[in-house]
Amino acid sequence: MSGPFVVALDGPAGAGKSTVGERLASRLGYFYFDTGVLYRAIAVAARRAGIDLLDEGALARLVTSVDILVRPPTVGDGRQHDVLLGGGDITPSLRTPEVDGIVSQVAASAAVRHGLIDLQRRQVQGTGTVMVGRDIGTVVLPAADLKVFLDASPSERARRRLQQEGGPVEDLARVLVSIERRDGIDASRAIAPLTVAADAATIDTEGLTVEQVVDQIVGLIEQRRGRRPRVSA
Ligand code: DC
Repeated sequence: MSGPFVVALDGPAGAGKSTVGERLASRLGYFYFDTGVLYRAIAVAARRAGIDLLDEGALARLVTSVDILVRPPTVGDGRQHDVLLGGGDITPSLRTPEVDGIVSQVAASAAVRHGLIDLQRRQVQGTGTVMVGRDIGTVVLPAADLKVFLDASPSERARRRLQQEGGPVEDLARVLVSIERRDGIDASRAIAPLTVAADAATIDTEGLTVEQVVDQIVGLIEQRRGRRPRVSA
């Protein structure tokens, strides 16, 4: 196998995709892209425009006219990307409970998914790429060189999310309800539901450290390439 190696990393909320994906990309010197920020940016744009999330026509117009730019982070607040909407930095608004509460509905829209496909595919250029999402291996990049589905139990994923948010332990039940609700919408939507691609390797991340998961994926890449992948200095 030659040419840039493309890894599709899918799985439910809180399975560790973005942490693992960023670490994997940085270890291999690959480009990292988290597609979830696009759905979150559309959710922010829809909310600002007062759009009814059931109005497919309005969502279609929004997704074709909206000006979203995703670029490497310029602020050291833990973000993985800068996300600009109409030139303004909306990154801090992307991971609020308000956006968490509506983003699965936005991501269930056929108009939104259709409108974001090319933008996602254009991210794969002449370099190794790790792309993270829900339908990367099944829909966005079906010819990816390696497809990995990361999973963990809902309670483990809720615990990690809470830790990430830095919230009090009393919030665990709320976070679990929110994760299970989003799982339900993501997995049951009519278009590009969260499913494991037939040719994906599933890794249960429960009880594993980030480095152990990254090691497993690097091992899979080595197998696929038949040699050690080049690691950046
Ligand atoms: O990964 P995340 O929590 O930032 O994703 C936000 C929402 O977008 C979530 O409801 C799943 C959805 N999503 C999707 O449907 N397809 C993707 N490729 C990425 C995210």
